[in-house]
Amino acid sequence: KTGRPIGEEPGRPEGHIGRRSFDHWFGEKDRNGFIHRSWMRAQGFSDEVFDGRPVIGICNTWSELTPCNAHLRRLAESVKRGVWQAGGFPLEFPVMSLGETMLRPTAMLFRNLLSMDVEESLRGNPIDGTILLTGCDKTTPGSIMGAASVDLPTLVVTGGPMLNGKFRGCDIGSGTAVWRFTQDVNAGRMSQEDYAAAESGMSRSNGHCMTMGTASTMACMAEALGLQLPGSAAIPAVDSRRYAIAQQAGQRIVQMVEEDLKPSDILTRDAFANAVRANAAIGGSTNAVIHLLAIAGRAGVDLTLDDMDEWARGVPWLVDLQPSGRYLMEDFYYAGGLPAVLREILPLLKADAITVTGKSIGENVAKAERTVDTDVIRAVGDPLGSGAGTAVLKGNLAPDGAVVKQSAASERLLQHRGRALVFSSIEEYDLAVDDPELDVDADTVLVLQNAGPRGYPGMPEVGNMTIPRKLAEQGVDDMVRISDARMSGTAYGTVVLHVAPEAAVGGPLALVRTGDWIELDVPGRTLHLDVSDEELEKRRADWQAPTPAGDRGWVRLYTDHVMQANEGCDLDFLVGRSGSAVGRQSH
Ligand code: FES
Ligand code: MG
Repeated sequence: KTGRPIGEEPGRPEGHIGRRSFDHWFGEKDRNGFIHRSWMRAQGFSDEVFDGRPVIGICNTWSELTPCNAHLRRLAESVKRGVWQAGGFPLEFPVMSLGETMLRPTAMLFRNLLSMDVEESLRGNPIDGTILLTGCDKTTPGSIMGAASVDLPTLVVTGGPMLNGKFRGCDIGSGTAVWRFTQDVNAGRMSQEDYAAAESGMSRSNGHCMTMGTASTMACMAEALGLQLPGSAAIPAVDSRRYAIAQQAGQRIVQMVEEDLKPSDILTRDAFANAVRANAAIGGSTNAVIHLLAIAGRAGVDLTLDDMDEWARGVPWLVDLQPSGRYLMEDFYYAGGLPAVLREILPLLKADAITVTGKSIGENVAKAERTVDTDVIRAVGDPLGSGAGTAVLKGNLAPDGAVVKQSAASERLLQHRGRALVFSSIEEYDLAVDDPELDVDADTVLVLQNAGPRGYPGMPEVGNMTIPRKLAEQGVDDMVRISDARMSGTAYGTVVLHVAPEAAVGGPLALVRTGDWIELDVPGRTLHLDVSDEELEKRRADWQAPTPAGDRGWVRLYTDHVMQANEGCDLDFLVGRSGSAVGRQSH
């Protein structure tokens, strides 16, 4: 199938019309062919690679500033082996990398920028299919968004989680341990020495966070959507099987190009239903809600918060991983990983949804191993909870919606009425949190404004505000918290997030004042501010929009065009796809 002589017409199958294929770049006998080949020869490629074989772009989010993705150069070598093996021509290239722990003011500010980098790199270069190498939180959705807008055959290979963290003989989880230990230090339950020891034992191998945080969740979402080979999501980054599956992915993408199996074939509404249900079963991150909405927007799939709430309802919560539960990703992999979960919930899935294997998710999962450890992955008849997924709340405080992760919340707070204590910025909160005079008790509802997509900007993970010190010292470990921010996928608590519209665009969240009563009813799916419409209108008349964060550059483009959380926080002009064709030559 491959190995056409230079210059011979490739005879592209239907659907490829207009796509600039490999032959156009490296097979021509004219000046352009000379230019394209000659400069590539500088890298020492021999004649055969110009024979018309599919070019596989390995789109790499590697960076030493993204420690979670630091091993992706090595993983790319395994992908290349597979591509060569299957008769393709692999070419690795870098795209912007987003390190969750490094980037300020938040990596989320740049997810859409990464997606633009991926999109334009894939379209502008001579590429027939792509492997997306991703890992840390935003790198997976950002890469998928870009690739979906180009719609070349695409296969995701995530970098895998770190080995379980270790501290004094116990397993500790990425992020989750940080939040917990910081609270313990604040409450005087943990020494600074122990805090430092935990720091060095938590991240002890390559890989992304090994809790069911956003990175692990999005790896599972890529697999549940059908974009990653079955069984890929959970393999630890340093397990040799991660490298073996990357090699298989390299082989498979060459076949996908020959089959012309594209994201538009895979990213159907059914695929999103499967992802949302899988997310409820694994107790995944609230961030998945925003990322799935954004990916659906690129794929042209109609998807709303209401769909997601409806699909997640009644799905049994099966995976006992931190931050909601006890175990970590290594345990999850050894217990059977995502295929074991999907097999359990198969009757709830759209089994016919097609995947990168060319087979349906039902066919893929039929071959899955049974769960090896039913403590880590529960049987469907013995769940950790039912309907514990991310719930969507509406009400006069969040007309366009807000979310709460039920599995990470306290049962007793799921229905709660409390007095608001309002902060207009996270800095204001941080200044107040240690104040022994702070007028707060365990029933207070902490409200944070101006931490949304436009307001911060970038919607940082600050929604899980630390418990005020004086309450932490009394043993209070959870309170209702409400904001237009996100929270880390590794965080927990009764935290209402993604309030839309956000405060900075004049959403009702901006009008809440200290002392107002707020009613949260998660089973009833409502979030109500107990203030009359007339009073709210009066307050609205007094409200002044904050000054936008930036007047030039990316921040300007972002704040001018970012959509609200219920629409996935994509830029309005990036929704949809433009395909892979480029009409004009560069010389
Ligand atoms: Fe990169 Fe958690 S910080 S995955
Ligand atoms: Mg995160």
